Amino acid sequence: MPSRFYITTPIYYVNDVPHLGHAYTTVAADALRRYHLLRGHESRMLTGTDEHGLKIERSAAEAGKTPQAFVDEMSARFRQAWPHLSAEPDDFIRTTEPRHIALVQELWRRVEANGDLYLGSYEDWYCVGCESFKTEKELLPGNVCPLHQKPVEKVREETYFFRLAKFEQRLLALYRDRPGFIQPESRRNEVISFVEGGLKDLSVSRTSFRWGVPVPGNPSHVMYVWFDALANYWTALGGPGDPLQRFWPAKGEDARAVHLVGKDILRFHAVYWPAFLLAAGFTEDELPSQVFAHGFLTVDGQKMSKSLRNAVDPLRIAQELGPDVLRFQLLRAIAFGQDGDFDHKALFTNYRADLANNLGNLLQRTLGLTTKLTGGKPPSVAADRLDRELLDGELRAHEAAATERWDSLEPHRAIESTWAIAALANQYVDHAAPWAAAKRGDQARVDVILATLLEVLGRLSVMVSPVIPNKAAEMRAQLGLPPLSTTVGRDAWPHGDVASYRGESLGAATPIFPTFDKDAEHAMLDKLTPKPDPSTSTATSTATATSTSTSTSTPTPTPTPTPTPTSTSTSTSTATSTATSTPSSVTYDQFSAIDLRVGLVVRCERVPKKDKLLRLEVDLGEAAPRLIVAGLAQTFAPEALVGRRVVVVANLAPRDFGKGLVSHGMILATGPSDALHLATIGDDVAPGSRLK
Ligand code: MSP
Repeated sequence: MPSRFYITTPIYYVNDVPHLGHAYTTVAADALRRYHLLRGHESRMLTGTDEHGLKIERSAAEAGKTPQAFVDEMSARFRQAWPHLSAEPDDFIRTTEPRHIALVQELWRRVEANGDLYLGSYEDWYCVGCESFKTEKELLPGNVCPLHQKPVEKVREETYFFRLAKFEQRLLALYRDRPGFIQPESRRNEVISFVEGGLKDLSVSRTSFRWGVPVPGNPSHVMYVWFDALANYWTALGGPGDPLQRFWPAKGEDARAVHLVGKDILRFHAVYWPAFLLAAGFTEDELPSQVFAHGFLTVDGQKMSKSLRNAVDPLRIAQELGPDVLRFQLLRAIAFGQDGDFDHKALFTNYRADLANNLGNLLQRTLGLTTKLTGGKPPSVAADRLDRELLDGELRAHEAAATERWDSLEPHRAIESTWAIAALANQYVDHAAPWAAAKRGDQARVDVILATLLEVLGRLSVMVSPVIPNKAAEMRAQLGLPPLSTTVGRDAWPHGDVASYRGESLGAATPIFPTFDKDAEHAMLDKLTPKPDPSTSTATSTATATSTSTSTSTPTPTPTPTPTPTSTSTSTSTATSTATSTPSSVTYDQFSAIDLRVGLVVRCERVPKKDKLLRLEVDLGEAAPRLIVAGLAQTFAPEALVGRRVVVVANLAPRDFGKGLVSHGMILATGPSDALHLATIGDDVAPGSRLK
């Protein structure tokens, strides 16, 4: 296990203000930083701003400012934004800072001394938006950049070339020998194909503008912004001899350096950056441990763009709902590594289901029961007398899965495992029924149940803290636990200070995730949802939720409500009456006629114009995934289901939903349609396994 962890975000261009895409990487990096601190690792997070280049020079001119005044102002907006999202980088680097400039020049000198830079001239198409040259193959008709939808410019100038082609084989060997270097796997394959396609030497200096780092010994050239920018990961650690070098390039097993990037800039990080480092004399084992590319976010199903005016201001959401709610949604709803949608309605759905009804409710009902059944004094019960069946059984497996998932950079799945613990504990309350034990006069049992629940909540207050640090702190205060603290070398995960839990007294219990009534939710949705430009709007008019839902009843089975003694939610579940009626008995043969199988959701999307339905492709261990249509859309964002294991009735007669959409199975779930819980199974069970 590494004892040092260095995590970086890209440094953001200052021609834009912080938007949801920037917030996504920054929040993910911060959650990982927090997780590693809990593990007792020495942990360091770096972010910053990328301030040179033609694009910035032009933006400054458009704003009527000098480049320096412009970048000072814009960089400050990024620096000031992150604390509002509870993201706490250890360092914030700006490429215009002297500490960066001096070291990036040092890096250049090293590459030049090794003979990997030479002077030549270059003529090609250049996209200022991308700050990169484009081949004709990459352009749309009319020489338009496909990313920026703007014509590129023909640029001819004297330039230094970097001998990128020379590194082709070494890079391919690196990808082969260190499969973890580029993740996720699909992206790794893309990079390998790109390099296998042949690398050309790269132009790395410009003479036609001045806003850049001067090339040492030839100041009529400024460095290519990507040479300048990528170097930040190294320059921020102070250069040779600086103690911060213990984070990277520290050789050996005990240090892990991870670059988080968006998929659009993976090539720069996975091809150019290691090549620059190798050229500067770094060895393969001194390269960063991993470049992880996350996907792109859309907003309410649409590409985020300034021209559509649908760019989401993360600060606004954090201000209205608190940073934790935004962090949770970003990390839970979007599978890290895949593209995903930031759906405002799903934000409220997940808020209700996971935060208010699951975690929040567990805390409230436990505190409420403790007040009622033990006079508010947490029972003191020896660890070995707690309900070990709960603590050492499935719950422990979820803890182990969460750990593994944080380690493998899968925050969405770590969250899933963590919240499964809360769900399990909620079920435990129902089954253990401390109120019934109290009625019987069995105070010893009441104490065991409540102490067990307080123990689980104590652990959860640690485990949720990378994602929702402020709510975790509130939880701990209500539980009477000391604030979380971390110490290098002491692994506080996932049990933290629970061992030192004295159980003296509980803090004041107030709902940590207050529920919104429908009107308040609509008003908030209206406030937060970006208003698209009417001239460019297409499908957005469907977002008003007034459309009457279709008459097709959802194919989820009858929901069974979970009793929630302290729940404030009054959502009317349509099917509660059947839940308590005793079904007439069936023979074993009748039961075994139902083919229940473990399914793995491999793809999931909304069904257009049906606000309750999702279209899933589920791997049942058959030749091809099954298509299943399920009424899960009011609880789950489609991305949240991808990668989850579900229980499927595999031999249900096909059901036709019209327009060629035929469902071939049913997914088991319980709860009201806007707060469903899926019947699930451990991750180690193979898709297609039969339940009997
Ligand atoms: N300055 C370069 C990075 C240099 S790193 C040595 C840059 N800056 S950026 O501001 O344009 O983008 C920064 C990051 O934001 C990229 O990782 C990019 O993928 C990410 N995002 C921008 N829009 C995004 C979404 N819509 N969704 C997710 N991330 C996106 O590139």
